[in-house]
Amino acid sequence: MAASARAQNQGPRTGEAVADDRRVVVLVSGHGSNLQALLDATAEPGSGMTVVLVAADRPDAFGLERARRAGVDTAVVRPADHPDRPAFDLALRDRVAAARPDVVCLAGFMRILGPGFVRAFPDRIVNTHPSLLPAFRGAHAVRDALAYGVKVTGCTVHLVDEEVDHGPVLFQSSVPVEAGDDEDRLHERIKAEEHRLLPAAVRLVAEGRVRVEGRRARIVQPEEVP
Ligand code: GRF
Repeated sequence: MAASARAQNQGPRTGEAVADDRRVVVLVSGHGSNLQALLDATAEPGSGMTVVLVAADRPDAFGLERARRAGVDTAVVRPADHPDRPAFDLALRDRVAAARPDVVCLAGFMRILGPGFVRAFPDRIVNTHPSLLPAFRGAHAVRDALAYGVKVTGCTVHLVDEEVDHGPVLFQSSVPVEAGDDEDRLHERIKAEEHRLLPAAVRLVAEGRVRVEGRRARIVQPEEVP
């Protein structure tokens, strides 16, 4: 039975972390299919991870509804409610920090996070981007890749630093462009790869198995984690 189906049969989860579980906070702006992949992965028995908070920058993000259905706490922090971007960053930082995350995951979060946020969670913020970085940074990566005429694109799951779509790479997966692809069709195939890689990357960061050495993220064995 799929994890999401099992969760439905058992009624809503509380979103309360089991004592030793790693705590995951997810930020979303929209549809939230990557969030769903994380909710499903963390709902697996013995996953050792719990999504303790889903926060959005807009109240209509469908990801919030997915969180509510899974019994996970939600928060909305809107830029319009703050005088400037640094103030928004700090408000979001405080809301996220209050959930005591081991890892923060940007899953289709369409805001650039400034230093006020990023410095609070060093090497513990994971983002997924729908291109093979450093190609096609920015908000229209799939459209830009199609327009460029590439034959292969894909996704990159990476740590977040203070530059946009830039931090050390955790995982990448390639996706061939097919004849007749439009943006939506290509993006769906890319998302299928993101849904596979993002939970795996979040787990590694949550378990402290990522060492950052310059631009490189090195994955260590569980025995090497202090
Ligand atoms: C993903 O492709 C992500 O890489 C990009 O936005 C998309 C979000 O999709 N930043 P979803 O909201 O998780 O369905």
